[in-house]
Amino acid sequence: SCLGLGRRISSKKAMNSSEHHLRHVQSISAIHSTSSCTEDEVVFPDPNFSSNALVSSPTDYLDMYRRSIQDPSGFWSDVASRFHWERKWPAGGVFSENLDVSKGAVSIEWFKGGLTNICYNALDRNIQAGLGDKIAVYWEGNDLGQDATFTYNQLLPKVCQLANYLRDVGVSKGDAVVIYLPMLTELPLAMLACARIGAVHSVVFAGFSAESLAQRIMDCKPKAIITCNAVRRGSKLINLKDIVDAALSESANNGVSPAVCLTYENHSAMKRDATNWKQGRDVWWQDSVPNYPTSCAVEWVDAEDPLFLLYTSGSTGKPKGVLHTTGGYMVYTATTFKYAFDYKPTDIYWCTADCGWITGHSYVTYGPLLNGATVVVFEGAPNYPDSGRCWDIVDKYKVTIFYTAPTLVRSLMRDGDEYVKRYSRKSLRVLGSVGEPINPSAWRWFFNVVGDARCPISDTWWQTETGGFMITPLPGAWPQKPGSATFPFFGVLPVIVDEKGVEIEGEGSGYLCIKNSWPGAFRTLYGDHERYETTYFKPFTGYYFSGDGCSRDKDGYHWLTGRVDDVINVSGHRIGSAEVESALVSHPQCAEAAVVGIEHEIKGQGIYAFVTLVEGVPYSEELRKSLILEVRKQIGAFAAPDKIHWAPGLPKTRSGKIMRRILRKIASRQLDELGDTSTLADPSVVDQLIDLYDS
Ligand code: WTA
Repeated sequence: SCLGLGRRISSKKAMNSSEHHLRHVQSISAIHSTSSCTEDEVVFPDPNFSSNALVSSPTDYLDMYRRSIQDPSGFWSDVASRFHWERKWPAGGVFSENLDVSKGAVSIEWFKGGLTNICYNALDRNIQAGLGDKIAVYWEGNDLGQDATFTYNQLLPKVCQLANYLRDVGVSKGDAVVIYLPMLTELPLAMLACARIGAVHSVVFAGFSAESLAQRIMDCKPKAIITCNAVRRGSKLINLKDIVDAALSESANNGVSPAVCLTYENHSAMKRDATNWKQGRDVWWQDSVPNYPTSCAVEWVDAEDPLFLLYTSGSTGKPKGVLHTTGGYMVYTATTFKYAFDYKPTDIYWCTADCGWITGHSYVTYGPLLNGATVVVFEGAPNYPDSGRCWDIVDKYKVTIFYTAPTLVRSLMRDGDEYVKRYSRKSLRVLGSVGEPINPSAWRWFFNVVGDARCPISDTWWQTETGGFMITPLPGAWPQKPGSATFPFFGVLPVIVDEKGVEIEGEGSGYLCIKNSWPGAFRTLYGDHERYETTYFKPFTGYYFSGDGCSRDKDGYHWLTGRVDDVINVSGHRIGSAEVESALVSHPQCAEAAVVGIEHEIKGQGIYAFVTLVEGVPYSEELRKSLILEVRKQIGAFAAPDKIHWAPGLPKTRSGKIMRRILRKIASRQLDELGDTSTLADPSVVDQLIDLYDS
């Protein structure tokens, strides 16, 4: 091995927590000597890149990392002091945490008592610093030639008008606002407007169905909902307003009726006359918002006041409302953005994620704008009108940092290099990946073909719950290994534990946990602190459990291995198998369903559903289609099963528990790895299922 894992300290008891934390630093200190590493494929940063990078070497990283672990209060209060605080957090009170359920309720607080506003920090503060005429957003529409630009000076008054409108219709501090918009500039703008007045936004990805939207509306009970009439995505026209109408009538039946539905007229997609309208509730954005004053007093909020709710999938059916607060999230997203992309004021940054997901929250809207960056917001589909669209956009705006998902990399890779080579891409200097592990072959293609072997790749591991990057390369600092997310961000203490919750030191694999809090951590699940504790803090006492598997190699590099729970990651989108199952069984002819993830060449994972029909119902192609339609209707098209496998019976234990392990093997046709089936209540169901492969 080219490096030892530093000095190992074997007695856990003898250590106080700061020593204990330091061990993590030591375990990666030996990284300096990676250059002599021969066993793995290692990609070294260009020395010119490194010498200009914010963090130039593993030593620089380690110095900062060590301080962030030894003195988190000092480290984070220095970082936080660069922002505007209307009132600073009390001396000595940077953070407090309890991650240990055995010691009482889990609680995490950062900068509590400090007063700030994230919209003010993203816009007003940057304008005061002289960035008013800098472009904040380059908006690129679905169709070629459709575009717009907004400077910081132009964005602020628009945000203020919307904020004033919202206040006027009765939205005040702490109220929820649901945003259901495609990637128009109005989406980040609406998030900022909510933040300005202390309202809590809950963005719902505009690919979710009416039913899913209704479920979220009923959970957070918003005062207002913001949407648009329609959107074009690729060659498809989607009537969003109809979806919202259906969701609102469903929520009204359950006693939840937001006072207004503010609707942006997206006239290039659909004219207002063609839009269904409910008098008294529906309001055209263009008719009302521009009438409001272009300045709006900021609502100063406590650092621990909620900023947003974002629903995500877990292993049970009901989506979880992940709650993030203001101060820590602000400091964390801004700092992670800056370091993980080696951000320079001259950069043009493009993240292909939709603001409906956490990546769009933290790294389209907040992280970049807090840094005064120029962001590309793209409405369309990355392969429309053809597979060269991304590189066309890169050349058009001279994008320097390009952040995307492995699923897109793989699909563009399949379409062939010629689409990439048609464009110069010479502006690019940093690439990024998120959403799922990036397989080494996709990594190499991204690196060699897209980046011309010139741009480091930041493979950022993180989650809706973490708010920002947790394990990520810092470009220029680290030699990279294709497919590894490398090392923890400042202030983060990742550990790998075994089944019993014992930390694995050095090389090994197990469950990825975090043993301290970080400013961007979520604080609770909305309305269900108990589920928060049960899901994340009870599996391994004293730790935050990520739900991911991970291994650490002999050089201390981290390799994420995917979810270990019942969450399926389809094209980087989290889908709970239980959600799909519950959609399937709501079909009148479906008696039972069991859903597992299977490997998928482009999407990473695909959805494979075993379905048992109601007694006497024959299976047919028509029924297969209507089952898939049911899932599209209840969740959204992105959750549609790739395969329906008819199942006269499901493999269950004698106590009735479905054995997914066996179903996974059947689904992936690894029949020689079925393992022990003798504990099944009826082992013959396995053969039945195998017989039905192609029906
Ligand atoms: C997966 C997206 C490996 C992981 C930011 C995690 C990754 C889930 C990576 C969170 C990565 C995300 N390498 N796996 N770089 N990034 N994941 O909440 O399984 O939509 O638990 O947040 O995506 O998905 P979420």
